[in-house]
Amino acid sequence: MDLTHRPRRLRRDRVRGLVSETSLEPADLIAPVFVDATTDERRPIESMPGHERVPVGEAVARVEEVLETGVEAVMLFGIPESKDSEGSRAWADDGVIQAALRRISDETDAYVITDVCLCEYTDHGHCGPLEEELRADDVVEGGEPACEPTLTVDNDATLEALEKIVASHARAGADMVAPSGMMDGMVGAIRDALDREGFEHVPIMSYAAKYESAFYGPFRDAADGAPSFGNRRHYQMDPANAREALREVRLDAEQGADVLMVKPALPYLDIVSSVRREFDHPVAAYNVSGEYAMLHAAAEKGWLDLEDVALESLLSIKRAGADLILTYFAEAVAERLTAGR
Ligand code: PBG
Ligand code: ZN
Repeated sequence: MDLTHRPRRLRRDRVRGLVSETSLEPADLIAPVFVDATTDERRPIESMPGHERVPVGEAVARVEEVLETGVEAVMLFGIPESKDSEGSRAWADDGVIQAALRRISDETDAYVITDVCLCEYTDHGHCGPLEEELRADDVVEGGEPACEPTLTVDNDATLEALEKIVASHARAGADMVAPSGMMDGMVGAIRDALDREGFEHVPIMSYAAKYESAFYGPFRDAADGAPSFGNRRHYQMDPANAREALREVRLDAEQGADVLMVKPALPYLDIVSSVRREFDHPVAAYNVSGEYAMLHAAAEKGWLDLEDVALESLLSIKRAGADLILTYFAEAVAERLTAGR
């Protein structure tokens, strides 16, 4: 057969590596770590096999386990000892994250990023203090509301809380902060607060395009942060929207975000790819708890090979344009990458 083009020529074993377009390194990965002030022993997370909540006293040991695999960065989530309507334990200098941060930054070389949000700290589980909201069509003639006002997160009151949180994290040694609440103006408010307190060098990784996703289910068990009523669709993005993601990302870039994150990852690779194309910032993608849990569940049934699908998932996220990946597979994949050398 007289074929000019035979792409198969470059798929042979010794040449594949030379022509490979995408690579995955342990240094690209960030491992989420859960620190729990309500326990004094490690507690496995049911819906996320291989992951645990650890007490403050085990935080250093947990981070060292991560470092041993070749992963150099962690993202800290906290479960506080108590919750209230404002989420005030989120900015306490003796709070769970602040205490863990002090130890981790003293005793390890890990690059420590903190999730900055209120949902694990409020008793209602929403990402900020609540306010009553009247919709225009609820107001009938005579000014009387036609139905009960609905509750929503008070955006501007939340910004004040976020400012206190980042200042307390930076004082305790956070290397980077990552606001995840999808409040309008959150990046600008946090940048100002950090600069005011002398933390101009602390970068912000914004959860810039975060969707209201059913893939967060297992995480909400892990971090005990499910909303006690309603959902988060009044602040997180509608999965139907792609152009809106670019607007959200642009606002965060204008307010000084250093790293732009898209979340979740696999169902939103189109968004990762367009953020990569439109911006020159580093792009992060969060391979979320549901993406992790579903592969584990299928592998447990013997339907998929866990290591192979995990690696392929992370490679796809990089191919779509992510520079950094937050993933519960970080340690396992890093170990495999290092072993394969
Ligand atoms: C809190 C937060 C969530 C996740 C990261 N930070 C949950 C949510 O918004 O409900 C999700 C992480 C995951 O599912 O792995 N704002
Ligand atoms: Zn939140």
